[in-house]
Amino acid sequence: MKYFLDSAKIDEIREAYDTFGIDGVTTNPNHIRNSGKPFYTVIQELADFVKEKGIEGWEKFPISVEINPHLDNADEMLEMGKKIAAMSKSFVIKIPCTEAGIEAARKMEQLGIRTNLTLVFSPSQALIAAKNQSLFVSPFIGWKENSGEDCAQYIQDIVTIYENYGYYGETQIICAAVRNGKQIVDCAVAGADIVTAGLQVFKDSFYHAFTDYGLKKFQAAWDNTITD
Ligand code: E4P
Repeated sequence: MKYFLDSAKIDEIREAYDTFGIDGVTTNPNHIRNSGKPFYTVIQELADFVKEKGIEGWEKFPISVEINPHLDNADEMLEMGKKIAAMSKSFVIKIPCTEAGIEAARKMEQLGIRTNLTLVFSPSQALIAAKNQSLFVSPFIGWKENSGEDCAQYIQDIVTIYENYGYYGETQIICAAVRNGKQIVDCAVAGADIVTAGLQVFKDSFYHAFTDYGLKKFQAAWDNTITD
């Protein structure tokens, strides 16, 4: 399963890429705002990053960049998508799963601009993303689980539908708004292609108290052993 970092902070992206390894990045208007920098400055930094690392291209290291969320007309969405896509071969245009967004994504894919249908909260929304050959679909996990829904079956249903109709792997499932290791495991068990999460979520998922406990125990043993 691929790990994407959900962030627009270049220092976090560098850290994740250089330490545990990530396969791509997702951004959204919140992340761009949290970077404290102007929109086009941030995405130019991301474009420069993939060039510097020699990983430019959506096939090697996709970076999802969301269009202006105020746009509600497919032609305007398309224009903005074209402008962003022209800045880097790594950029995948993130579009809300609304009627206008579906139309814009369909047109972008027909032009060879890769898309990520986002704000997906049901398998029927995931189905239309695949029918129109979006590269990615982003079902949100954390928001639904915050309101009491269990998402394991939700992701499993999307995987089953994609398998039934040959979409699996063509439109890749990015489980989004992932908040903890349990959710990462649920998504992996269901067969999702990708999880996207913040840096601390990934770091927490690598941690186990027994690992620290075991390390201390083995250090004590080492200290009481002749090693030379
Ligand atoms: C995913 O692609 C989104 O950027 C993200 O997960 C949105 O949710 P959050 O900001 O609440 O995590």
